[in-house]
Amino acid sequence: MSKPTIHEYISRDSIAARTKELAERIDEQYKDSNPILVCVLKGAMPFFVELVMNITVPCEFDYVAVSSYESGTHSSGRVKFVADLSSSVEERDVIIVEDIVDTGRTVAYLQKVLEARGAQSLTVATLLDKPERRVVDVPTTYVGFEIENRFVVGFGMDYDEQYRHIPYVGILDVEQSG
Ligand code: IMP
Ligand code: MG
Repeated sequence: MSKPTIHEYISRDSIAARTKELAERIDEQYKDSNPILVCVLKGAMPFFVELVMNITVPCEFDYVAVSSYESGTHSSGRVKFVADLSSSVEERDVIIVEDIVDTGRTVAYLQKVLEARGAQSLTVATLLDKPERRVVDVPTTYVGFEIENRFVVGFGMDYDEQYRHIPYVGILDVEQSG
Protein backbone atom coordinates (compact mmCIF):
# COMPACT_ATOMS: atom_id res chain seq x y z
CA MET A 1 0.00 0.00 0.00
CA SER A 2 1.53 3.32 -1.04
CA LYS A 3 1.72 5.92 1.66
CA PRO A 4 0.23 9.28 0.72
CA THR A 5 1.72 12.37 2.30
CA ILE A 6 -0.37 14.42 4.67
CA HIS A 7 0.42 18.11 4.87
CA GLU A 8 -0.33 19.72 8.19
CA TYR A 9 -3.07 22.31 7.79
CA ILE A 10 -4.10 23.05 11.38
CA SER A 11 -1.74 22.01 14.16
CA ARG A 12 -2.71 20.14 17.29
CA ASP A 13 -1.65 23.16 19.39
CA SER A 14 -3.88 25.54 17.40
CA ILE A 15 -6.79 23.11 17.77
CA ALA A 16 -6.22 22.89 21.53
CA ALA A 17 -6.00 26.67 21.96
CA ARG A 18 -9.04 27.40 19.83
CA THR A 19 -11.12 24.65 21.47
CA LYS A 20 -10.38 26.14 24.88
CA GLU A 21 -11.83 29.45 23.69
CA LEU A 22 -14.99 27.71 22.47
CA ALA A 23 -15.33 25.90 25.81
CA GLU A 24 -15.10 29.24 27.64
CA ARG A 25 -17.97 30.58 25.56
CA ILE A 26 -20.00 27.43 26.25
CA ASP A 27 -19.30 27.77 30.00
CA GLU A 28 -20.60 31.31 29.86
CA GLN A 29 -23.73 30.52 27.87
CA TYR A 30 -24.69 27.31 29.70
CA LYS A 31 -24.00 28.36 33.31
CA ASP A 32 -27.36 27.24 34.65
CA SER A 33 -28.52 24.75 32.09
CA ASN A 34 -26.85 21.30 32.28
CA PRO A 35 -26.74 20.87 28.47
CA ILE A 36 -26.51 17.55 26.64
CA LEU A 37 -23.43 17.51 24.41
CA VAL A 38 -24.09 15.23 21.47
CA CYS A 39 -21.00 13.80 19.79
CA VAL A 40 -21.62 13.03 16.13
CA LEU A 41 -19.71 9.80 15.53
CA LYS A 42 -17.32 8.85 14.21
CA GLY A 43 -15.56 12.03 13.13
CA ALA A 44 -16.30 14.39 16.01
CA MET A 45 -14.88 12.12 18.70
CA PRO A 46 -11.40 13.70 19.12
CA PHE A 47 -12.82 17.24 19.04
CA PHE A 48 -15.56 16.20 21.48
CA VAL A 49 -12.95 14.96 23.96
CA GLU A 50 -10.87 18.12 23.57
CA LEU A 51 -13.97 20.29 24.05
CA VAL A 52 -15.53 18.56 27.05
CA MET A 53 -12.23 18.43 28.93
CA ASN A 54 -12.27 22.23 28.85
CA ILE A 55 -15.89 22.69 29.86
CA THR A 56 -16.36 23.32 33.58
CA VAL A 57 -20.15 23.71 33.90
CA PRO A 58 -22.31 20.63 34.61
CA CYS A 59 -23.19 18.81 31.38
CA GLU A 60 -24.13 15.39 30.04
CA PHE A 61 -22.87 13.36 27.10
CA ASP A 62 -24.66 11.52 24.37
CA TYR A 63 -23.69 10.02 21.02
CA VAL A 64 -25.26 9.73 17.64
CA ALA A 65 -23.91 8.17 14.47
CA VAL A 66 -25.00 9.40 11.09
CA SER A 67 -23.47 8.91 7.74
CA SER A 68 -23.55 11.00 4.61
CA TYR A 69 -20.33 10.21 2.79
CA GLU A 70 -20.63 6.91 0.95
CA SER A 71 -16.99 6.70 -0.13
CA GLY A 72 -13.93 8.80 -0.58
CA THR A 73 -14.45 12.53 -0.90
CA HIS A 74 -17.82 12.31 -2.66
CA SER A 75 -21.00 13.04 -0.73
CA SER A 76 -24.11 11.06 -1.58
CA GLY A 77 -26.28 13.94 -0.43
CA ARG A 78 -28.23 11.59 1.81
CA VAL A 79 -28.06 11.42 5.58
CA LYS A 80 -28.88 8.25 7.49
CA PHE A 81 -29.07 7.37 11.17
CA VAL A 82 -26.60 4.63 12.09
CA ALA A 83 -27.04 4.90 15.87
CA ASP A 84 -29.52 6.96 17.85
CA LEU A 85 -29.12 8.97 21.07
CA SER A 86 -29.71 7.13 24.33
CA SER A 87 -31.16 10.05 26.29
CA SER A 88 -34.33 12.08 25.94
CA VAL A 89 -33.74 15.62 24.72
CA GLU A 90 -37.21 16.81 25.70
CA GLU A 91 -36.98 20.29 27.25
CA ARG A 92 -33.19 20.04 27.27
CA ASP A 93 -30.54 22.35 25.88
CA VAL A 94 -28.57 20.43 23.30
CA ILE A 95 -25.17 21.15 21.79
CA ILE A 96 -24.42 19.13 18.65
CA VAL A 97 -20.67 18.55 18.40
CA GLU A 98 -19.41 18.02 14.85
CA ASP A 99 -16.03 17.63 13.20
CA ILE A 100 -16.93 19.67 10.14
CA VAL A 101 -19.99 21.33 8.66
CA ASP A 102 -19.79 20.99 4.91
CA THR A 103 -23.08 20.99 2.93
CA GLY A 104 -24.96 21.37 6.23
CA ARG A 105 -27.18 18.35 5.51
CA THR A 106 -26.07 16.36 8.57
CA VAL A 107 -26.69 19.20 11.00
CA ALA A 108 -30.00 20.11 9.32
CA TYR A 109 -31.16 16.50 9.68
CA LEU A 110 -30.16 16.31 13.35
CA GLN A 111 -31.72 19.68 14.03
CA LYS A 112 -35.02 18.51 12.54
CA VAL A 113 -35.03 15.27 14.55
CA LEU A 114 -34.02 16.88 17.86
CA GLU A 115 -36.53 19.68 17.51
CA ALA A 116 -39.27 17.16 16.77
CA ARG A 117 -38.29 15.37 20.00
CA GLY A 118 -38.83 18.56 21.97
CA ALA A 119 -35.32 19.92 22.53
CA GLN A 120 -35.60 23.32 24.22
CA SER A 121 -32.61 24.83 22.45
CA LEU A 122 -30.04 23.70 20.00
CA THR A 123 -26.59 25.00 19.10
CA VAL A 124 -23.77 23.52 17.05
CA ALA A 125 -20.10 23.34 18.00
CA THR A 126 -17.91 22.35 15.10
CA LEU A 127 -14.16 22.10 14.76
CA LEU A 128 -14.29 23.16 11.12
CA ASP A 129 -16.69 25.01 8.87
CA LYS A 130 -16.57 25.04 5.06
CA PRO A 131 -19.10 27.82 4.33
CA GLU A 132 -18.40 27.76 0.59
CA ARG A 133 -19.89 24.26 0.32
CA ARG A 134 -23.14 24.99 2.13
CA VAL A 135 -26.34 23.67 0.53
CA VAL A 136 -28.63 23.93 3.58
CA ASP A 137 -28.51 26.94 5.89
CA VAL A 138 -27.73 25.76 9.44
CA PRO A 139 -26.73 27.51 12.66
CA THR A 140 -23.06 27.16 13.61
CA THR A 141 -22.67 28.86 16.96
CA TYR A 142 -19.21 27.67 17.98
CA VAL A 143 -16.81 27.35 15.07
CA GLY A 144 -13.18 26.37 15.57
CA PHE A 145 -11.89 27.31 12.14
CA GLU A 146 -13.50 28.41 8.91
CA ILE A 147 -11.64 26.74 6.08
CA GLU A 148 -11.54 27.02 2.32
CA ASN A 149 -12.97 24.30 0.11
CA ARG A 150 -10.29 21.62 0.67
CA PHE A 151 -10.78 18.00 1.64
CA VAL A 152 -9.20 17.49 5.05
CA VAL A 153 -8.34 14.44 7.14
CA GLY A 154 -7.15 13.80 10.68
CA PHE A 155 -8.38 14.77 14.13
CA GLY A 156 -11.32 12.42 13.56
CA MET A 157 -11.88 13.06 9.87
CA ASP A 158 -11.40 10.33 7.31
CA TYR A 159 -10.82 9.46 3.71
CA ASP A 160 -12.38 6.01 3.20
CA GLU A 161 -12.22 5.44 6.99
CA GLN A 162 -8.47 6.09 7.09
CA TYR A 163 -6.49 8.87 8.83
CA ARG A 164 -8.96 9.57 11.64
CA HIS A 165 -6.16 9.03 14.19
CA ILE A 166 -3.81 11.68 12.78
CA PRO A 167 -3.43 14.18 15.68
CA TYR A 168 -3.82 17.33 13.54
CA VAL A 169 -5.91 18.47 10.58
CA GLY A 170 -4.14 17.71 7.35
CA ILE A 171 -4.57 17.67 3.59
CA LEU A 172 -3.88 14.52 1.58
CA ASP A 173 -1.64 15.00 -1.43
CA VAL A 174 -3.96 12.74 -3.46
CA GLU A 175 -6.67 15.35 -3.06
CA GLN A 176 -9.59 15.25 -5.51
CA SER A 177 -11.70 18.19 -6.51
CA GLY A 178 -15.34 18.59 -5.45
P1 IMP B 1 -22.40 17.70 5.62
O1 IMP B 1 -23.60 16.91 5.98
O2 IMP B 1 -22.20 17.83 4.15
O3 IMP B 1 -22.31 19.04 6.33
O4 IMP B 1 -21.16 16.85 5.98
C1 IMP B 1 -20.81 16.59 7.20
C2 IMP B 1 -19.92 15.37 7.26
O5 IMP B 1 -19.23 15.06 6.04
C3 IMP B 1 -18.85 15.67 8.28
O6 IMP B 1 -19.30 15.40 9.58
C4 IMP B 1 -17.73 14.77 7.82
O7 IMP B 1 -17.90 13.50 8.38
C5 IMP B 1 -17.88 14.70 6.32
N1 IMP B 1 -16.94 15.65 5.66
C6 IMP B 1 -17.24 16.83 5.08
N2 IMP B 1 -16.14 17.43 4.60
C7 IMP B 1 -15.10 16.60 4.90
C8 IMP B 1 -13.68 16.68 4.69
O8 IMP B 1 -13.11 17.63 4.12
N3 IMP B 1 -12.97 15.63 5.14
C9 IMP B 1 -13.53 14.56 5.79
N4 IMP B 1 -14.83 14.46 6.01
C10 IMP B 1 -15.62 15.47 5.58
MG1 MG C 1 -18.98 13.90 10.82
